[in-house]
Amino acid sequence: MTATQPLDPSFESVLAFWEDAGVDVATARALARAATRVARSGGGAPDAAPTPNAARISAPGQKRAARSPVDDARARAAAATTLDELAAAIAAFDGCPLKASAKRAVFADGVPGAPIMAIGEAPGRDEDAEGRPFVGRAGQLLDRMFAAIGVSRATNLFITNAVFWRPPGNRTPDAGELAVCRPFVERAIELGRPKALILIGGTAGQAILKRPEGVMRLRGRRFAYGESGLTQPLNAMVILHPAYLLRRPQEKGLAWTDLQAIAAWLDELGIARAGAV
Ligand code: URA
Repeated sequence: MTATQPLDPSFESVLAFWEDAGVDVATARALARAATRVARSGGGAPDAAPTPNAARISAPGQKRAARSPVDDARARAAAATTLDELAAAIAAFDGCPLKASAKRAVFADGVPGAPIMAIGEAPGRDEDAEGRPFVGRAGQLLDRMFAAIGVSRATNLFITNAVFWRPPGNRTPDAGELAVCRPFVERAIELGRPKALILIGGTAGQAILKRPEGVMRLRGRRFAYGESGLTQPLNAMVILHPAYLLRRPQEKGLAWTDLQAIAAWLDELGIARAGAV
């Protein structure tokens, strides 16, 4: 019998993230342990143990960082006492592998401290170029959707993403990238103190709510988001991603239904909506 191999802490935290979300990670853990065993017994390169986080891979002989990227993110996020400080902490953070290929960190836009916080997936090409979330075609559609129910970045909305660097080719961010950005997202919620959370698309919905369902099962429901050192759970709803609606305009009817539900929900929460059309 071989003793159980401890895994890279950042990989463990990713597994824990998905396990929390109800995903069966036993096979992934077993495979990772096997690979770690092979690597440690000299059967592979010392850094061949699977890890979704390239920032943990160090050259042979190089000293490992004292804490994992997720722990580092957590410490940096906790040290930020304002949303501006958090933006600076994100820009200075080197623990997300996407930073290597992105032009810049893209944090947030809108009104700091607004009653509504919207969280998308990750910056795309236009956001990477401009440094603000949701400025491309999808962002413009989102602005129009929100304007229809009196929600705007100029009045009552703060908008950010679940990941702060553009994934190459606009691919979906992976679990490791989401996990390493999560402490900053949680801190943004804690510092922004919104009354309502709108999660844009399935990736953001699953990651932030730690739920395994797809977006069609998440949309249109009310959830309680209970993390981030909040004194009470925060109201959360998931909407279809505007990039999806650009690809499948026939689904706009569903989006309209969801927006109406959100409008009613904001009214119940006593959140002012400006100039709804
Ligand atoms: N899609 C997102 O999820 N976020 C952005 O900022 C832009 C496009």
